[in-house]
Amino acid sequence: MVTTPLLPSDYLDLVSPLRTGADLRGRIEAVHPETRDAATVVIRPGRGWRGHTAGQYVRIGVDVDGVRLWRAYSITSPANRRDGRVTITVKAIPDGKVSNHLVRRAKPGTLIQLDQAAGDFVLPQAKPAKVLYLTAGSGITPVMGMLRDTELDDVVMVHCAPQPQDVIFRNELHGLAADKKLRLTEVHTDTDGMLDITRLDELVPDWTERETWACGPAGLLDAAEEHWTEHGVRERLHTERFRPSTAVAGDGGGGEVTFSATGKTVDADGTTPLLDIGEEAGVLMPSGCRMGICFGCVTPLKAGAIRDLRTGEITEAEPGVLIQTCVSAAAGPCDIER
Ligand SMILES: Cc1cc2nc3c(=O)[nH]c(=O)nc-3n(C[C@H](O)[C@H](O)[C@H](O)COP(=O)(O)OP(=O)(O)OC[C@H]3O[C@@H](n4cnc5c(N)ncnc54)[C@H](O)[C@@H]3O)c2cc1C
Ligand code: FES
Repeated sequence: MVTTPLLPSDYLDLVSPLRTGADLRGRIEAVHPETRDAATVVIRPGRGWRGHTAGQYVRIGVDVDGVRLWRAYSITSPANRRDGRVTITVKAIPDGKVSNHLVRRAKPGTLIQLDQAAGDFVLPQAKPAKVLYLTAGSGITPVMGMLRDTELDDVVMVHCAPQPQDVIFRNELHGLAADKKLRLTEVHTDTDGMLDITRLDELVPDWTERETWACGPAGLLDAAEEHWTEHGVRERLHTERFRPSTAVAGDGGGGEVTFSATGKTVDADGTTPLLDIGEEAGVLMPSGCRMGICFGCVTPLKAGAIRDLRTGEITEAEPGVLIQTCVSAAAGPCDIER
């Protein structure tokens, strides 16, 4: 009563935002540039943080121009880091709201929302005898977390980036290679062209024998999945995608989307996720991974129909039907309860 309209916890948050029991938060303690468009963000998680396994990601909520936006980032620090801090390494993408904010504008001292670490792109308990890390661009991040965390006997890495100076963690990777902890092949796509997956025979002749962790753009991962399947070793390939692979090509026919709780109606095409449509319209849309894995965006579909962008499947509104707005587009007029 005394603190109405705020709750006592709101006052405690002001003095001790990282305390046990508060919604999990973290404080940005430093931002270190890595390349011209990537930076490592050092975060001190609050007391409720349960730690992570190398290769996992964390969802963070960041305020950008007054709007809380959630994104997932792989943890690049080892699990046993003594000071308890974790790092994420972010590559700014053109027009990317959160990535540009973190790389170019985030300031030490800023509080962010955190979720517990998640994801199964991790090494097994029993260390594999031979490992291949196949990465491109910012896809190096979960693998760097593994390299820093777990020393393995026989590790080969093939990493693609446009130019040498775009290779995130390049000095550290070359240090590991010099210490014979890693055999490293860099593919510079500006000069060498995109990696043709069949080149693995020449770059890593025993690739079929290696337990492989791959992370990078959809083109590389799709090609890898096909290649590993063709060679009958698909179970040796573990992939991490930063974006959902969408099956719907072109405009599958959109419609008018009503966000009934907010009272907004906008036109949507049939390929843009309803999450993006809502955010563009200024509707408060919960989200997390933005690729269909965390269920942080689940919302009731009150009326109309939506299309799952991963499968093309249509879902029609019925009482109790929930949809993942990050991987659903309008399939005709629809009403989303936001
Ligand atoms: C499990 C997981 C782990 C991830 N780990 C990392 C990481 O370690 N480092 C990192 O930099 N990013 C990582 N990401 C991607 C990250 O979550 C964001 O998608 C990325 O930073 C873009 O967000 P944004 O707000 O800047 O872009 P938005 O403002 O959301 O999008 C801007 C434009 O870029 C497009 N876009 C969105 N995401 C991507 C993308 N990943 N690649 C290319 N284009 C995109 C959008 O369609 C839009 O046109 C990870 C994603 C997942 C799901
Ligand atoms: S935001 Fe993670 S499932 Fe939609």
